[in-house]
Amino acid sequence: MQVSFGDQVVIVTGAGGGLGSAFAQEIAQRGGAVVVNDLGGSVTGEGETTSRGYADAVVEAIHGAGGRAVANYDSVATPEGARRVFEAAMDNFGRVDAVIANAGNMRFGDFEELSYDDLNSLLAVHVGGSWNIAQAAWPEMKRRGYGRVVFATSSGGTLGNAHLTAYGAAKGGVMGLMHCLAEAGEPHGILCNAFMPNAISRMTSDIKPGELGDNPWAATLGQHFAPAYTTGLVTYLASDACKTHHGIYSALGGRIGRAFVGIANGFTTDAPIDAETVAANWDLIRDDAHGYEIPKNNTDEWRIVAQQRGLAV
Ligand SMILES: NC(=O)c1ccc[n+]([C@@H]2O[C@H](COP(=O)([O-])OP(=O)(O)OC[C@H]3O[C@@H](n4cnc5c(N)ncnc54)[C@H](O)[C@@H]3O)[C@@H](O)[C@H]2O)c1
Repeated sequence: MQVSFGDQVVIVTGAGGGLGSAFAQEIAQRGGAVVVNDLGGSVTGEGETTSRGYADAVVEAIHGAGGRAVANYDSVATPEGARRVFEAAMDNFGRVDAVIANAGNMRFGDFEELSYDDLNSLLAVHVGGSWNIAQAAWPEMKRRGYGRVVFATSSGGTLGNAHLTAYGAAKGGVMGLMHCLAEAGEPHGILCNAFMPNAISRMTSDIKPGELGDNPWAATLGQHFAPAYTTGLVTYLASDACKTHHGIYSALGGRIGRAFVGIANGFTTDAPIDAETVAANWDLIRDDAHGYEIPKNNTDEWRIVAQQRGLAV
């Protein structure tokens, strides 16, 4: 199957950076018109300094290769900024088919050292930025009955890392947003998915070996850390070729796989469940080797439990 974008228009936020720039260029190469959004800030998002050069360089590269792109320098961390990104797509290309909510900043360290300001800065860009850009484009995608929204999340949020408490909290929020928007969008032809990349970029090259804990496999898998190992996944998710929604996909070390939330079959009873009963059944409650289910959404968990209890579903 050839994945192409024809006359489609794709917004990529944070597209001046490592991964976002790769996504924007790949999509443009496949025919899509791209809004290259990037405020050109620091990795942490601190300070007032911004640079138009980030987005401009990517637009220049796309134009140089014969593609269609326009730059936008707004911060997606505000609804007004995200609105202007959306308007850049409408004003220049007249439509929006897909949004890749990729903009991100990073702060890491020991939990005690990270401040509430650190948390809020990450929440504003990751959760706020994803929310704002999806909400800006949503009515137009809904009106046309078509859309693809792709969210950048992280194993820091889905799987955890002791040094990424604030970042993980923000990326976990992005995951929750995707889960809910996937349900809200599907009846309108808007398919939402998320990806968890692992790639060399400005953000990750700032992190010294060991700063996120011991990782003896970093060197072994390092050769598969170019953005090109994530670009195909995100390009596919943003395209009409992708017909599924509500997925989280991990790209790590040359492997792409679906990540999912499963709930063990656990322990079921008719009586109220006291702490002693929980203690007595703890192994069963935690056991994933003897069956688990992956609910499609939160109502589906009710169906599963009703079915497990032999009730009418
Ligand atoms: N590289 C990895 O291994 C990795 C792992 C997990 C998740 N991620 C996520 O992938 C995405 C891309 O990261 P990257 O590694 O390419 O980092 P990067 O720092 O190279 O790129 C991020 C870009 O986002 C831009 N940006 C930041 N705040 C913005 C805002 N408010 N509005 C608009 N643009 C803004 C920055 O200027 C930067 O160019 C991020 O969401 C990041 O958290 C990356």
